[in-house]
Amino acid sequence: MYYSILFGAAVLAQLAHGNAHGHQHAALGSDHIKHHAHTTRPAQDSTPTTFSVARRATSAYGSPPAPSATGITKNNLTPNGRKAGLSGYIGIQDKQGFKDLAPYISWYSDYTATTPSTSGVQGVGMLWGGDGSTCADTQTRLTAFDNMIAADTIPEIMFGFYEPDCNCPDSAQMTCDEAAADWDKLIAPLSKNGTVLGSPSMCKQKDEDFLTPFKAAVGTEWDVTSVHINKPNLTEVQKVVDYYWDTYQKPIWVSEFACVNDQPSWSPCTEQTQIDELITGAVKYFEESEHVVAYGPSNGNGLGNTWPLTDSQGQLTASGQTYLSAIKGL
Ligand SMILES: *[C@@H]1O[C@H](CO)[C@@H](O)[C@H](O)[C@H]1NC(C)=O
Ligand SMILES: *[C@@H]1O[C@H](CO)[C@@H](O)[C@H](O)[C@H]1NC(C)=O
Repeated sequence: MYYSILFGAAVLAQLAHGNAHGHQHAALGSDHIKHHAHTTRPAQDSTPTTFSVARRATSAYGSPPAPSATGITKNNLTPNGRKAGLSGYIGIQDKQGFKDLAPYISWYSDYTATTPSTSGVQGVGMLWGGDGSTCADTQTRLTAFDNMIAADTIPEIMFGFYEPDCNCPDSAQMTCDEAAADWDKLIAPLSKNGTVLGSPSMCKQKDEDFLTPFKAAVGTEWDVTSVHINKPNLTEVQKVVDYYWDTYQKPIWVSEFACVNDQPSWSPCTEQTQIDELITGAVKYFEESEHVVAYGPSNGNGLGNTWPLTDSQGQLTASGQTYLSAIKGL
């Protein structure tokens, strides 16, 4: 009932390579305030999901879920009424840190179009890039997406491209025209089959200038805006959410957030206390925000040594424990 595409080892290795990093981003042009962000997720349609436990939905977009959830729909975007999730990397679902978080998160992403659902956590897919993206890993990811569609697997939700507004290899690097054409060709048709469409995510956070022309160029708009937030404190986090709400008036899925001093140049937070404050404050804020339907901290390269939630053994770090504590009590 949900797709569990098996990757060949080589494919997996290749995907893991390009993905597993949260990414550093090269400094942008001087007319941009150099910020950056990172990735995303998805799943399937009207078949009952394996994710059952209903939780309170504080989102204005989701009616309180029935005890047996019917999955993500345009009117019920928060998976099982639980916003907390995780932006991971390929294979994270096998790590102890993931298993520790699993009872308290409803969704996760591994940056592929075919993120497998596991441990009661819904895999939420994303198509990294279309043909317009010339990054080394694009075609492998696109092939996995094409195979999923060819197998008639209809995801409940599918996110569009990964930061097309920044460069390969950490972002998909597409022009607005390329992204719009690929969106209409690859992603938009799923909408007719009930798939909820997540927007491309933006690298430049609230200084992006991509989604407005993208919206004007596509034949089918997205349903939920995928937002990446890399900021050093809650005030700045809120500004990003406000920007996307004010500009697009669509529900917001914070597909990545991390503690980063993004100005004047990219510099991940190093102080555990600052990181803990950001995690705790952001979780509370996202939970209370009627515009945010889901959120998940990102993990990977480019985020320093203190932020990542799992260590090299896959165990939760101090930051991971902070996130666990913050969502455990919800
Ligand atoms: C969606 O539905 C149409 C028919 O309504 C079908 O032709 C198409 O193959 C379906 N699947 C996908 C992945 O779009
Ligand atoms: C939050 O970070 C910004 C810089 O990104 C800084 O200007 C501001 O003073 C900080 N606010 C708080 C409350 O620390």
